[in-house]
Amino acid sequence: MEKIARRRFLGSTLKMGALLPVLGTPAKLLIDNNDKDYTPADIPDRIILTVTPDLATSVTMNWRTAGKSGDNLVEYTVADAHPEFTANAVRVKATARAFRFGNISALNCRVTINNLKPDTLYAYRLGNESGWSEWMQFRTAKSNTEKANLSFIYLGDAQVGIRPLWSRVIRKAYAAMPDAQLIIHAGDLVNRANEDKEWGDWFAAGGYIHGSTPALMTPGNHEYIHEDGNPHLSIYWNEQFLLPDNGPANELLKGSCYFTDVQGVKIISLNTQMIEEALTEDLINRQVAWLHQTLKHNPQQWTCVVMHHPVYSTKKGRDNKKVREHLKPIFDQYSVDLVLQGHDHAYARGMDKIPLTGGAAGSRSGTTYIVSVSGSKMYETEPMEWADIIGSHLQVYHAVNITNSTLAFRSYLATGELFDAFDLVKEKGRQNELIDKRPSNK
Ligand SMILES: [Fe+2]
Repeated sequence: MEKIARRRFLGSTLKMGALLPVLGTPAKLLIDNNDKDYTPADIPDRIILTVTPDLATSVTMNWRTAGKSGDNLVEYTVADAHPEFTANAVRVKATARAFRFGNISALNCRVTINNLKPDTLYAYRLGNESGWSEWMQFRTAKSNTEKANLSFIYLGDAQVGIRPLWSRVIRKAYAAMPDAQLIIHAGDLVNRANEDKEWGDWFAAGGYIHGSTPALMTPGNHEYIHEDGNPHLSIYWNEQFLLPDNGPANELLKGSCYFTDVQGVKIISLNTQMIEEALTEDLINRQVAWLHQTLKHNPQQWTCVVMHHPVYSTKKGRDNKKVREHLKPIFDQYSVDLVLQGHDHAYARGMDKIPLTGGAAGSRSGTTYIVSVSGSKMYETEPMEWADIIGSHLQVYHAVNITNSTLAFRSYLATGELFDAFDLVKEKGRQNELIDKRPSNK
């Protein structure tokens, strides 16, 4: 296994933080200690597109306003270079929910737009006569894709240094891949689940990118609070992200366990916090049973799982045994192609050295596991048997391009430099072949 460490540019303060992974204490230098004012206004903010089960014909729009008066609306139409395209816009009323928490008082709005034309550029704005957003554009996915054809961005934990340092990563990723069909966030978007400023930072860092490319997010442990000793999902999560309602029928898994099928690829979000910290076995069983059902009836050419806690970690003391024991046999049984994870504040990937559950000696799983991080919190790593490569003290983003039977996975540093690369090649009736394409200097 190759272990790659980068010089720590931020000196001893960061080093101290990185050496305290169990406590998860970030160095002072990296905490977002800003006084930015995120008071809601008449003009909508925190605008984000979220995935639906069918991105070829629908998309969900989410935003926030001060909510002083009137209906909250979306106007949308097929985009056109002629600025008078706005005259063709259709107006739709959103669902608005009062959100009061601490000294925050806002209106959270959302609407799913259906019956869109596939592979079409749309323009939209949202708000009302008290204040409108700018016109933003997004493209619907292609429908009836005979052969898989999908591009997406994948980001690990943002969590710390969100506005000062995560911003450069999501912006670099979007600049490199503006036509990506979706952006995947693998949990721990923020550090403190119910801290409004951190959510404000997360939206500010992504800016118009959030409103231009649908997002698929899964919660991490930092999206949970434990004020009464039990885990509770952030009150922000399902209020600001309306996510597909095709998961298990359980309130504790709402907005965290779901899937979308897009251009020949099934992308499944799982809630690993509700495996690691589930209060009942029944809750785990429900998620596991749903995953079995979802994978059993899966006509898509490729299958990716997004979840926060890694099946295989980048340090021995960070093992997630329950996640591995419950999920890995299912990934093996149904030949899941790619598992996208976060949590360890490092980068790693592996496949060939991971044994198939119940397989003969020397067998390999055929599923590729990735651990990643996009924010500024960094943890130390150790050489791990499962991993082909481990990188530490690096902010990274990933560009995934799937074309028929080839999945090209590229890992870039925050600076844009290619850091790791491999292709997965799918052949019917066989396990995926992993072709290492990492740059020769890595
Ligand atoms: Fe985490």
